[in-house]
Amino acid sequence: MKLLVINGPNLNFLGIREKGIYGTEDYEYLVTMLKNKAEAEGHDLDVFQSNCEGEIIDRIQAAYHEKVEGIIINPGAFTHYSYAIRDALASIEVPIIEVHISNVHKREEFRHVSVTAPVCTGQIVGLGLKGYVLAMDYLTGRI
Ligand code: DQA
Repeated sequence: MKLLVINGPNLNFLGIREKGIYGTEDYEYLVTMLKNKAEAEGHDLDVFQSNCEGEIIDRIQAAYHEKVEGIIINPGAFTHYSYAIRDALASIEVPIIEVHISNVHKREEFRHVSVTAPVCTGQIVGLGLKGYVLAMDYLTGRI
């Protein structure tokens, strides 16, 4: 299965930023874990990260042309206000799982709103990096 993971702003700073919230594992650890899992299960996975809204939109549109079959996205803070990323996700028909490492509902009020979740298939929050693993298992039909 052809899968794409998209991480938004500041997720490249995992292991550096707010470790009490996001944990001590770094971004490289996350990418390696997901790539190893995909390879072991025979899936084709690309993992993309950008701090720029437009680059995330371009990557979503490219996924349409590449015939990606499932997307896992953590839009970071864009989750809470990017109508442009929401529109890009709504443009394509593949299953999309939104993942948040932290439990956004336990945090500041502005994090309680996701403008992107309503155009996703489902959302996983607060389970740390394991949320990405569970999202992949869902998309590939393992669970
Ligand atoms: C986050 C939650 C967002 O509110 C925050 O802006 C992030 C990370 C998470 O994974 O918990 O950058 O998406």
